[in-house]
Amino acid sequence: MSTIYLNGHFMPAEQATIPVMDRGFLFGDGVYEVIPVFGGRCFRLAEHLERLDYSLLEARIASPMSHAQWQRTFERLIELHGGGDQSLYLQISRGVGAEREQRFSADIKPTVFAMSRPRGAAAELPEAVACIALEDIRWQRCDIKTTSLLGNVLMTQLAVEAGADEAVLIRDGCVWEGASSNVFVVIKDVLYTAPKGRYILGGITRDLVVELARQHGLECREQALPVSDVANADEIWLSSSTRELTPVARLNGNPVGKGAPGPVLRKMWDWYRSFRQQLTR
Ligand code: PDD
Repeated sequence: MSTIYLNGHFMPAEQATIPVMDRGFLFGDGVYEVIPVFGGRCFRLAEHLERLDYSLLEARIASPMSHAQWQRTFERLIELHGGGDQSLYLQISRGVGAEREQRFSADIKPTVFAMSRPRGAAAELPEAVACIALEDIRWQRCDIKTTSLLGNVLMTQLAVEAGADEAVLIRDGCVWEGASSNVFVVIKDVLYTAPKGRYILGGITRDLVVELARQHGLECREQALPVSDVANADEIWLSSSTRELTPVARLNGNPVGKGAPGPVLRKMWDWYRSFRQQLTR
């Protein structure tokens, strides 16, 4: 039986209940984080907590805990699951309203939920996947990590039904990100990824990849590329806390470059893995 955290208490998942008037349930009115845990420790915790603060601020939900309190809560949850490698999920909804009405008042108390499950940190580069390109049907605030994910859910499902693993999302003719990942493209030894802003979620893995590229002298341009350039790229990769760095083998049924993974991703994987290992040493 898995232990979860809900509103100040650790309890078996089966005993955890949420009132039906919770705005997270009624409106998807909440924010979340997915934090990888390697060797019993949260990976890039400060960056995840900064992004959480940003999502809360933009959603106008008062932060229910300080960074030190989040850290203590996560450490306890990780310990209860035996340490090692895990995937920690945190969700904060605006809370329980008296009526089902869209307006909110500032005095509502947020609902805080966290769970964690075991995961393997990839020893080798993850298997290459297939993607399809879809018009991005989401809203204008993709920079907020909100639990309102209907657009993402529908596009992911279309991708899966087309035999792919992920949808890469198009706006104004350019590729911005994936339904649950950021997208990297290599053309002539230059790495491209979309700039941060309201069209993408600023991925913690994305930021680390950009940082590692610059540290190791790999040219990296934060620029959204037209779909035709992406379709003819030498390499395409996905990044996320769950996927780490995943090569894309096919886009819309066509092979990517000379076969995935390409040489630039192999280099990035070594830099990324060394960085990850420092944490567990
Ligand atoms: N998804 N873009 C979107 C739309 C995402 O949902 C995610 C992550 C990312 C990558 O962000 P990060 O590197 O911080 O994980 C980009 C998580 C893993 C999820 O929803 O499960």
